[in-house]
Amino acid sequence: MIFDTHAHYDDEAFDQDRNQLLCSLREGGIEAVVNVGASLKSCRTTQKLTEDYPWIYGALGVHPNETGELTESSFQWLETHVDCPKIVAVGEIGLDYYWEEPDHDTQKKWFVRQLDLARRKNLPVVIHSRDAAKDTLDIMKAEKAGDMGGVIHCFSYSVEMAREFLNMGFFLGIGGVVTFKNARKVREVVEYMPLDRLVLETDSPYLAPVPNRGKRNSSLNLSYVAEEISRIKNISVEEVEAVTSRNARNLYRLIDF
Ligand code: NI
Repeated sequence: MIFDTHAHYDDEAFDQDRNQLLCSLREGGIEAVVNVGASLKSCRTTQKLTEDYPWIYGALGVHPNETGELTESSFQWLETHVDCPKIVAVGEIGLDYYWEEPDHDTQKKWFVRQLDLARRKNLPVVIHSRDAAKDTLDIMKAEKAGDMGGVIHCFSYSVEMAREFLNMGFFLGIGGVVTFKNARKVREVVEYMPLDRLVLETDSPYLAPVPNRGKRNSSLNLSYVAEEISRIKNISVEEVEAVTSRNARNLYRLIDF
C-alpha cells in the first residue's frame, strides 16, 4: 500500500467527483493521505476532510504566497485547530521567491511564527521552498527546525542542499517530477539519498507523473512515481512502497496506525 504524504483534495479541481475519488483510494492501493492546508480556507476544508474520511489526515498551515492574509486573529485560529485529533503537522509553510508575493519580509515573519507554533505543539512541519534555498535553510537552522523534524515537500534543489536538510533529520518528498524527462537533478537526489528518508507525495491536483503529465493528479498515480524510484534505486517496487509508507508513518508519527 502507498502513503500519499501531500495532497490538496480541497482544491476546486475535485469539486465534481471528490467523494467518489476519495472512496476509490483504498481499493486503488492507497492506504492513507495527508491533505495539506495552503490558505486559511483550505485549512478549514482540510480539517473537515479528516473528519469525513478515516484514511485522510491533515496538516494545517499557510503557504508562503498566502501569508499576506494572516493576522493575529487568524493565526489564533490555526493555533487552536492544530490540536484537532487527526492534524499531524504544521504546513505547508516556508518561502517562495518564484512568485515574490507577498514581500520576503512578510514571508519570513510568518514562516518563523509557524515554525514556532509547530515547536510549541510538538508537531512536525511540511516545508514549501522554491527559489529560496539559502534563506529557508538559514531560518530552519536559526529556529532549530531539526527539533521538530518534518519533510521538504516536492524537493527540487541540488544534492548539496539535500545533504543539508537530511543532516537536520528531515525527510524529502518526491513526486511526479521525478518521472519528467528534464528532471535530472531530482533523479540525482533520489540516487544519492537513503531510501529511509524518502516519502512519496502527489501535490494533487498538480504535478501528475508521466504518462499522465499535464492532467489532474491524484494519489492513484503514485505507482508511476514508485516505479521510477525503484528503477533509480535498483530495488523492487514493493520495497519502495513498503519503506516509503513506513517513512511516512514515522514522519507524521502515526506509529500505531
Ligand atoms: Ni502542496
